[in-house]
Amino acid sequence: PVIRLQDYTAPAYRLRHVEMVFDLDPESTLVTTTMAVTRLAGMEVPLELDGDRDMALVSVWLDNRELPDGRYELTEESLTLRDLPEEFELQIQTSINPKANTKLEGLYQSNGMFCTQCEAEGFRRITFFPDRPDVMTTYRVTIRAPKADYPVLLSNGNNVENGDLPDGRHYAVWDDPFPKPSYLFALVAGDLAMMEDRFTTMGDRDVTLRIFVEHGNESRCAYAMDSLIRSMKWDEERFGLEYDLDIFNIVAVSDFNMGAMENKSLNIFNAKYILADPETATDADFALVEGIVAHEYFHNWTGNRVTCRDWFQLSLKEGLTVFRDQEFSGDQRSHAVQRIEDVRMLRARQFPEDAGPLSHPVRPDSYIEINNFYTATVYEKGAEVIRMMHSILGEDGFQRGMKLYFERHDGQAVTCDDFTAAMSDANDMDLSHFKLWYSQSGTPLVTVSEHYDETAKTFRIRVRQETRPTPGQEKKQPLYIPLRTALIGQDGQDLSCRFDGVEAREHVLTLTKAEQDFVFEGVGEKPILSINRGFSAPVILKSDAGHPEKAFQMAHDADPFNRWNAGQDYGVSLILEMVETLQNGGKPDVDPAFLDAMGRIARDQAIDPAFKALALTLPSEDYVAEQMQVVDVEAIHGAREHLRRAIGTAHRDQFQHLYETHRLEDGRFDPGAEAAGHRALRSVALGYLGSADGDTAAPVLKSHFDQADNMTDAMAALRYLTDMDVPERASCLTAFEERWKGNQQVMDKWFGIQAMSARQNTLDDVRGLMEHPAFTMKNPNRVRSLIGAFCIGNPLHFHVQDGSGYDFLAEQVIALDKINPQVAARLMGPLGQWRRFDSGHQEKMKAAISHVLESGELSKDVYEIASKSLAG
Ligand code: ARG
Ligand code: ZN
Repeated sequence: PVIRLQDYTAPAYRLRHVEMVFDLDPESTLVTTTMAVTRLAGMEVPLELDGDRDMALVSVWLDNRELPDGRYELTEESLTLRDLPEEFELQIQTSINPKANTKLEGLYQSNGMFCTQCEAEGFRRITFFPDRPDVMTTYRVTIRAPKADYPVLLSNGNNVENGDLPDGRHYAVWDDPFPKPSYLFALVAGDLAMMEDRFTTMGDRDVTLRIFVEHGNESRCAYAMDSLIRSMKWDEERFGLEYDLDIFNIVAVSDFNMGAMENKSLNIFNAKYILADPETATDADFALVEGIVAHEYFHNWTGNRVTCRDWFQLSLKEGLTVFRDQEFSGDQRSHAVQRIEDVRMLRARQFPEDAGPLSHPVRPDSYIEINNFYTATVYEKGAEVIRMMHSILGEDGFQRGMKLYFERHDGQAVTCDDFTAAMSDANDMDLSHFKLWYSQSGTPLVTVSEHYDETAKTFRIRVRQETRPTPGQEKKQPLYIPLRTALIGQDGQDLSCRFDGVEAREHVLTLTKAEQDFVFEGVGEKPILSINRGFSAPVILKSDAGHPEKAFQMAHDADPFNRWNAGQDYGVSLILEMVETLQNGGKPDVDPAFLDAMGRIARDQAIDPAFKALALTLPSEDYVAEQMQVVDVEAIHGAREHLRRAIGTAHRDQFQHLYETHRLEDGRFDPGAEAAGHRALRSVALGYLGSADGDTAAPVLKSHFDQADNMTDAMAALRYLTDMDVPERASCLTAFEERWKGNQQVMDKWFGIQAMSARQNTLDDVRGLMEHPAFTMKNPNRVRSLIGAFCIGNPLHFHVQDGSGYDFLAEQVIALDKINPQVAARLMGPLGQWRRFDSGHQEKMKAAISHVLESGELSKDVYEIASKSLAG
């Protein structure tokens, strides 16, 4: 059953209010839902309520009269009522088994507590309901449970009543004054520790902030709380958006399908994105906690106050909220570093998705299972689309658009078109061509050729764009592509020149056709072109620039993104040349000019350490693979390692120097961006020392590990040791396991680092680790850190010749689909890339997908990904 955007119809019934009563019991929870319903004028159609087959219907009451079976129609997925009055009260009782709910959608148990996940369609696993985002209403929720086991009872809105009940039970009543769609409903009950703080809003509202965690983790919430407070402040200052209730709760749970969920005033998080302290979290973890806490908080306006009309509009809230969290992290840390990391992630995840069988537009046209569309395209490319609007309209224009968007749509469920209309109307700017970014899939390839006319002093560039066909979209149209551009002079400074009658050092070129010429005037010398600065458009760019120009940009480009990017381009091109040499049985040499360029960066005192760490990091194996017609994982690995060793050897002394001088003074750990930058640079230097010295570096790595007083340093040592066949590897891994075996979150790192090893027998190790007492298929974080890390994070071993990596993945997907389809479907991704490999690999990859498809009854989740992967 394919769901299509073009089939959308508005709801026929409106809910005036909903009251729910939960009698919580692990195996048999009784849910009583009472809805005040109004049939909309002219809508003479039955009321169809969504309901999952895992839920039992107990009774149905219409205006206080129980209905006999014959009065309604019950199927596996719905409950239908006919001949209803215009206004009525419908009461439905259902019975559910949270303990048996391994899908982790709806109401389930995690480590003895009750929690919910309703987005996108989990509410229908709790009760029969119009489970669609354009049905919004107010909720009043009563929770009853045994007091000893579940002292904390939470839902959305305000806690308006509490009390004791007979038999050791108690209750709490929560009332949410804001109408919301069912996907934002949440309930939590458990024996939880709590950390509390306060925030006073710009309008003087005094808000209580609480983070609930499992006992023993109280001390690990401080950073999340601090991030929340900074997010609340930032949203007021940058967007003028203020929190709207007197309480804001966050709950951290161990078993969670994704990162976190923005339920109104009761955000529920995967514990790994809340709990952070220096001993257990890396700097990357701290940054993720900050970014995700902010993301979920920002949803209160972009997602909750204004929500999506239907799930095709998911990017309306996700793209916009990702843009907001990226801007927040940039403002809190460094815009240059943030931008580079965001683009790295876009290229690593979204570009391959958009070039493969699962390619879809930011606003998809159809789906089988909506859970499969929480993708890098909807989130990250969606954020790029918002970012382009921001750069087209400027900060002030963008904020005018936001203001109009809220004026028009507060309290409504709307579409991406409504959003662009607000942006367009507020700025009197036609965005109709631009909007194609929402409906056309695929990454545009932009090709630039340059011509300098010395006598006329003009610099002309011819820019072409092309988007390859994607599944279901044969014909592509030219997109509206904003390219921030400057011309760099021989002295390394941006030249002032005239474009479109404007004299400036930087210009925005707007590419709207398949091919266009742009002419800069008053250009006194042959310049170096710096185009798509800050990655102003999410495109693949090919230019005439050769290695010398790249080296020049690496040294001088005033735009930090392009400065970094020049090094990546240069690195990719060298690695590709080396790959070819390796494939022809030769021994690759390393371009000395690249080694010089890297050396200059390593020595440049003016560069911020975090940026330097990024600039000294070679493009990933995956990113190199992206640029190859036929991917050869072994040659890529070999070439990249060879280049690393050459860089390490050429600049060994400088890396030794960086390693020694970026050591932080002992004392209190500072999770801030600056200290993290020093740690990152020191880790990179350590890696190059390891590459230069080979196995003889093992004692240095071990001592780095032994001396580490924080997780970032410990993991840096393990990351390099994991690839080596030295006794220090086992001793460090064992020490780590001994120290952290009681902490699941940290054990995930231990699983992951082993799963990503380049050593010979990694797949056997992974199979062995699945027997480890800390491993379970029932926990999504465990699955991702071991199976996911191997299949996604270890291309070298996943793609071994004999196909054993593919068979392993197929086997795990089939097993996991019976437990948790959503997580199982996510694991399938890498197999869909089969077209990128030689015929031997292709056959084995397709065989693995077919094996999954033929394994018996599949979930919609896995079926959709597997069938599309094979067809694509
Ligand atoms: N809305 C959540 C977030 O971005 C994610 C929900 C994911 N849901 C899903 N079914 N995958 O913050
Ligand atoms: Zn989100």
